[in-house]
Amino acid sequence: MKPTHSYDQIPEKEEDEGLLPAQYAPRAAPEWWRRPTGVFLTGANIVLFLITASLALWQSRWFQRGYSSTMNEDIKKVSWYSPVLDRVEIPLVEKTYDNTLYAHSKLAQLPSPETDKAWNEMTRIRLLLVNDDEVRRLGKDPEYTVKHPNRTDANVAVMAVDHQLHCLESIRRNTFNEYYFPHGSSSVLHMDHLLHCFDLLAQTLQCNSAMDVITYNWWELATDPVPDFRINMKCRDFNAYRDFTTKPLEESGFFQVWEEGWGTWHRTGGEKNVTAPKQWWQLQLDDGAITKEQFEAKWGPM
Ligand SMILES: *[C@@H]1O[C@H](CO)[C@@H](O)[C@H](O)[C@H]1NC(C)=O
Ligand SMILES: *[C@@H]1O[C@H](CO)[C@@H](O)[C@H](O)[C@H]1NC(C)=O
Repeated sequence: MKPTHSYDQIPEKEEDEGLLPAQYAPRAAPEWWRRPTGVFLTGANIVLFLITASLALWQSRWFQRGYSSTMNEDIKKVSWYSPVLDRVEIPLVEKTYDNTLYAHSKLAQLPSPETDKAWNEMTRIRLLLVNDDEVRRLGKDPEYTVKHPNRTDANVAVMAVDHQLHCLESIRRNTFNEYYFPHGSSSVLHMDHLLHCFDLLAQTLQCNSAMDVITYNWWELATDPVPDFRINMKCRDFNAYRDFTTKPLEESGFFQVWEEGWGTWHRTGGEKNVTAPKQWWQLQLDDGAITKEQFEAKWGPM
């Protein structure tokens, strides 16, 4: 049987002429090339090509933010660089959130051990480990970031969504402060932290600007229109993200369960400091951690 493809037919001359048909084979430089304008035009053409090519590369978010895969392309379009988006597929899921007035989910309950458990499971912060290169791509300087105490080239971080949920949880606890803080909070930062959370959540909601639409109904017996909070939304799959963060570090390469908390982490020496606000210095002064002289040396006479 005759093979459909035969390599025998490739001409022996191929080596000499390259893979180009004869009409494209190299020829003597034409007359125009030898004139200075020809050289100039060709040069200009090459320069233009390089500019166009680099603009195209710059346009591609993949290169722009240092991503190394096309995973989560849709989310990358509406996110700053995040190394996690190269590591775990976060599907976009369509959800109908039932937020009607009396649809109390596990999270929407008065304080109780079960309510706390539901909130704790959702908000438990994992440490995110990022290398120096990733820190730079985040727009930060690894010389100033806090290193993991047990690993070289690992900077500690947390994910923004975890911090946002933590802020919401702080506000929730404070709403029931007679339950959670029966003797008041012992932290001098308590109120400043809450105020910071208002700001953070307002900015987050604005940044995301949910464009989903809420219609109204007439409820039986109602004299006024009632908003229909059972709306359809398209969401990043939080569970896919949360499952990834709870995997062992060896598997996720990023997240570490963090039991001990910041209080047990200390400087080992040589760390660079960033400038702290005056209120922070004041707090150290009030605590007796620094003297009035030290304070005044930095901020002038009190
Ligand atoms: C660092 O190592 C010590 C000793 O093994 C351990 O107790 C501690 O939990 C580790 N810290 C972190 C954040 O991994
Ligand atoms: C950073 O601050 C600490 C604590 O105040 C201090 O001990 C250390 O010398 C400072 N580091 C540098 C590089 O100035």
